[in-house]
Amino acid sequence: MAQRETWATRTGFILAAVGSAVGLGNIWRFPFVVGEGGGSAFLFVYLLFIVLIGVPAILVEFVIGRRTKLNPVGALRELGGGLWKYLGYVFFVTAFVILSYYSVVAGWFVRYFLIGITDGYGVEDPEAAQALFGTVSVGLDSLAFHALFMAATIGIVALGIRRGIELAVKVMVPALVVLLVSLAVYAATLPGAGEAYAYYLSPDFGVIAENWQTLLPDAAGQAFFTLSLGMGVMIVYASYLGEDRNLAEDGAIIVSLDTAFAVLVGFVVFPIIFSAGADPEQETVGAIFFSLTEAFSGVTGGTVLGVLFFGTVAIAALSSAISLLEFVVAYFIDEFGLERRTAALVAGGSIFLLGVPVTQDLIFLDLLDGFADAILLVLGGLMLAVFVGWVAPDVARDELSRGIGELGSWGVAWIWAVRIPVVVVLAVALVLGVIGYVEFLTGDFAGWLGG
Ligand code: PFF
Repeated sequence: MAQRETWATRTGFILAAVGSAVGLGNIWRFPFVVGEGGGSAFLFVYLLFIVLIGVPAILVEFVIGRRTKLNPVGALRELGGGLWKYLGYVFFVTAFVILSYYSVVAGWFVRYFLIGITDGYGVEDPEAAQALFGTVSVGLDSLAFHALFMAATIGIVALGIRRGIELAVKVMVPALVVLLVSLAVYAATLPGAGEAYAYYLSPDFGVIAENWQTLLPDAAGQAFFTLSLGMGVMIVYASYLGEDRNLAEDGAIIVSLDTAFAVLVGFVVFPIIFSAGADPEQETVGAIFFSLTEAFSGVTGGTVLGVLFFGTVAIAALSSAISLLEFVVAYFIDEFGLERRTAALVAGGSIFLLGVPVTQDLIFLDLLDGFADAILLVLGGLMLAVFVGWVAPDVARDELSRGIGELGSWGVAWIWAVRIPVVVVLAVALVLGVIGYVEFLTGDFAGWLGG
């Protein structure tokens, strides 16, 4: 087999991981889960979970990847043997399913970006905004942009680690920073900014106490999704590390940057929504599209703002999508000795096909997202935490210490953080996720099938 590729630079690895982490989760999902969770109360719990479970969990994936230099299926077979190798397959299915609809939603952003350039948004009322979303999200347009987005993802992954992914993220991630910071500065000048900041930044502990049953699992799920955890993607990226570097430091940088992006997005989105008098607590997948296009039509310079915003999201989504496809491709290369280009084409093509139904009816988005995000991803994260915390803690600690030196009590604290908080939070989230999904299957989905 050809020699396994490695990152050319440390920055390359960090940017690729940040590029994976920062995506639709930060920009499309984050504001709407913050809205659902009552604004600042959600933000507070989310930040707590990032530190408490996000940081320990990202290190879990890093040590497994760097130790084995294998894709997650091979890695778990090597480290755990027996039944553990099946966990690798869970990851495989999760990445496959998530990318199939992730690409569809990303395609909508590309479409909105182009609409801004060719026609402007020009929607004066909520009905017009919803009608526009209807034409973009369902039908031929949606299919075409899904195809386009998948083709771009396949192209970059086919080029390989150094010439494709590393080069792409070196351009994309800095571009994202510049775009988002400029948008946040502009948003600060809008008339609704003050009200928006108050909504976003002053936590109401009463709201937390009242809604903790939904707030906790949602915040945990968001923390996992946004950091690209529970799916083995970070195992794959860490498997391309050529030398032993300080993984704790890299992990801290990556988590901080992803969190900074998410928080910054709130500084962009909420002032725009409040200034346009739209409702921040709409609860549908289209919410951000309705409220933002309406807002972009109502504020000065709105079209330029819209083009920049939707373009930013499309770039962020692309750098996340390549990490998902890279996972599937790494598996085909490692396990079946496929050539990279063939692997990218076969994997990307099949993922594209799975996403096709989503472009025709949004019920399939709920069907796939509920299964992959609320169940598989949490299950994967949970099993991995059990594996590292209880089955192979010594190997994990030994691997983490490479490039750092003596871990001392930090190593012990890390393993205990994985053993208890990560496991407990994910176990609770899994139970609630399964209950919610069964409700969806027997409710909305059964209704759709019947009617
Ligand atoms: N972290 C990405 C986001 O926030 O959009 C989504 C994602 C990418 C999740 C890759 C999981 C993953 F493996």
